Amino acid sequence: MEKRKYGLDTIAIHGGNKGRNPENALNPPIFQTSTFVFDTIEQVEKAMSFESDDYVYTRGNNPTLKAFEHRMAALEAGNASVAFASGMAAISSVLFSFLKPGDNLVANHCLYGSTYTVATGLMRRYNVNCKIVDMTDVNSLEEAIDKNTRVIYFETPSNPSLEIIDIKKVTEIGRAKGVKIVVDNTFATPYFQRPLTLGADVVVHSATKYISGHGDVVGGVAVSKDEDYIHSLKFDYMCEFGGVMSPFNAWLLLRGLKTLGVRMRQHEKNALEIARFLEKHPGVKRVYYPGLESFAGHDTAKSQMDGFGAMLSFEVDGGLERAKKVVNNVKLIKLAVSLGDCETLIELPAAMTHLGYPKEKLAEFGFTESMIRISVGLENVEDIMEDLDSAIRCE
Ligand SMILES: Cc1ncc(COP(=O)(O)O)c(C=O)c1O
Repeated sequence: MEKRKYGLDTIAIHGGNKGRNPENALNPPIFQTSTFVFDTIEQVEKAMSFESDDYVYTRGNNPTLKAFEHRMAALEAGNASVAFASGMAAISSVLFSFLKPGDNLVANHCLYGSTYTVATGLMRRYNVNCKIVDMTDVNSLEEAIDKNTRVIYFETPSNPSLEIIDIKKVTEIGRAKGVKIVVDNTFATPYFQRPLTLGADVVVHSATKYISGHGDVVGGVAVSKDEDYIHSLKFDYMCEFGGVMSPFNAWLLLRGLKTLGVRMRQHEKNALEIARFLEKHPGVKRVYYPGLESFAGHDTAKSQMDGFGAMLSFEVDGGLERAKKVVNNVKLIKLAVSLGDCETLIELPAAMTHLGYPKEKLAEFGFTESMIRISVGLENVEDIMEDLDSAIRCE
């Protein structure tokens, strides 16, 4: 583990701060402006050629976005980061930044639905081939890499089957072949896992989730140790494609981050209790949660994470029909896509977040049509359990 001066709770509150805020305000103001004013064309020229740090236009840079970017870089043990309008804006821009026609991308078989669609559909239109492999088996990863492979992409834990990919092993394989490693760290957050310290080149997030924590922002971010790469990602891709975050959203994310540690600890505590409760439930066939000793990825999770997160999936007896009844029967828990909010959310990935996956191939990708996914929230755990219990019993 890397040596840090401060702990992660402290970094989530103060990380990346550069001196005092205007008017000595404790919290930074929201620079709700599209453009910035100059006195002379000479000043403009310096800003345009990056000789000065002056701001020009919010699609390229803005002080509120910069404060959020510095904080995320500090949390992920990176040197720089770029904020995006959404997680998908971050993911697609990072892929476009590394790949050109004729290149190959190797991705894990279990991915968030839109990421799968971009990797296997959209990229193909630009003659980028995507090989889908099961990265829990590093041999199949090695076989998939060829002379045109430029990027290895995965989530760990993965959405929705919580597969754990060994970040160190994958980065060693990729590094040896000159391939860039991109890790989606949305489920773990930097509070529980920092892939850059394990060798990854770029970390991406849907900041919409735990980084916000309150279900009121859509945002994304990419972080790296390589400052030149981030500069190019920001000005050649984010700024040109135009997927910029709004200053208000950056401010809300800075606000959300202050409680990342307390939220994640409580989310995880609730999730572990619920996973254990589901594991013993007579109506439940299988539980997917990295914190369970019985889970396939448990040991790898223990070795590379500081906590197991609060996303879990499960299968009930009775297949899809029963699974639909469960999600229809919850009362306190909300039937919704997204995750990482204070509210516990439930969904059927194959019918919702992962609709883009071909139904006939779901098993190959490590999940099923009847899998139920839960984002465990911050309510009293007994209340969540009681709601789940009566929904599973279809009372
Ligand atoms: C793991 C993961 N990555 C990326 C995304 C996309 O993020 P956004 O919805 O902010 O574009 C999601 C959204 O659910 C996700 O779950």
